[in-house]
Amino acid sequence: MLLFVLQSITLTLIAQENYTPSKENLAAREQFQDNKFGIFIHWGLYAMMGQGEWVMHNRDIDYAEYEKLADAFYPSKFNADEWVKAIKNSGAKYICITTRHHDGFSMFHTAQSPYNIVDATPFGRDIIKELADACHRHGIALHFYYSHLDWRRNDYTPLGRTGHGTHRRLDGKWESYLDFMKNQLTELLTNYGKIGAIWFDGLWDRDEEEGGMKPERWDLYTQYELIHTLQPSCLVANNHHSDIIPGEDIQIFERDIPGQNLYGYSEQAISRLPLETCQTMNKTWGYNITDSAYKSSKFLIQYLVKTAGKGANLLLNIGPQPNGELPEEAIKRLNEMGAWMKTYGETIYGTRGGVVPPSEWGVTTQKRKKLFVHVLEPYSTIFLPYQNNKLLKANAFVDGKPVKFNQVKEGIILNLGKTQNDTIDYVVELEFKNEIK
Ligand code: GLC
Repeated sequence: MLLFVLQSITLTLIAQENYTPSKENLAAREQFQDNKFGIFIHWGLYAMMGQGEWVMHNRDIDYAEYEKLADAFYPSKFNADEWVKAIKNSGAKYICITTRHHDGFSMFHTAQSPYNIVDATPFGRDIIKELADACHRHGIALHFYYSHLDWRRNDYTPLGRTGHGTHRRLDGKWESYLDFMKNQLTELLTNYGKIGAIWFDGLWDRDEEEGGMKPERWDLYTQYELIHTLQPSCLVANNHHSDIIPGEDIQIFERDIPGQNLYGYSEQAISRLPLETCQTMNKTWGYNITDSAYKSSKFLIQYLVKTAGKGANLLLNIGPQPNGELPEEAIKRLNEMGAWMKTYGETIYGTRGGVVPPSEWGVTTQKRKKLFVHVLEPYSTIFLPYQNNKLLKANAFVDGKPVKFNQVKEGIILNLGKTQNDTIDYVVELEFKNEIK
């Protein structure tokens, strides 16, 4: 009897672990990789506090006090079309927005709790709906961030690792929280048109002895299946900082290009799934009134190029202001990135990480018979250890001028001459006889 039980448990686990993505899903993964560049939006009640999206936890704010923010939320300048136009202008092909963050406030009209933007604020408008409509109108994909962690609900029980100072009652049942999430996911995937991805976050909040990140603990397989059933092409991503879990379609790296671990959350092995690096433009995700440490446009463009060189997408964050506008500093960077993408987009969109791995001088991206060599540091000669494919021509991408090269058995030597020190990215386009494998 015991043996039988054990066997059937193993069988169900194997069945779940053998997630086979549908045809639509596989096509969506290709499209996602072709898109290469997206803009992340962290927006919620926390914007009003101007200290980032973790303010409720960081300042031990009582949940009943925090709720009062809802009563004053009136982002008078919010205009979804303007957001979408500014974002499209950067060359980004998708937007990922926080529908509900760890503070537990729903930025969309949900029937699952009155604590949402339509029922609990004087603003009374479903900004997710307005954004979804604008995205669909302007032809840009929309992804939804959704927090697994909640600092307010009484059924997020027992207490996790964070949010201890919010004084919420914990007299609810975990099963009711799981139902709540399933119902909200159903709303998000039925009421807002086509959704490109659901981007989960917060799984790391459970202690090991409380089941940690075990999929069964969070009913993840059911959630993933629900998403794939409601919208087969919707991709599942989860920012759990660990190895991918069956049912996921994208692997996320937080603040790190895959292969790096500068920030400390990226020890996980790089999987074969499409990859995405999320990164901040300044230091914080949610609006921070004193954070003016914006990265330069040159840094951000080079970061996008380096991410593409590793075959990953860049999801670059903006924290809109409490009045509903994107910060001016962010718009400036969107414009500058867009101007660069207008010229160089062909070397980024639709490419995959190049056969020649990243080096001190830069990275490569590739598309069919073309290899784009992105020289990010001033080098006059570079060596590409790529063999057995005849190089037909080498040109500077920007003006088509020929670049001197020498193909030897060991690889290719490019003589760049003097490259300008202030160039963001000197791109050499190489065309080979055969498709690059
Ligand atoms: C972290 C933070 C969260 C943020 C996310 C974005 O997981 O908890 O606030 O939304 O990173 O990558």
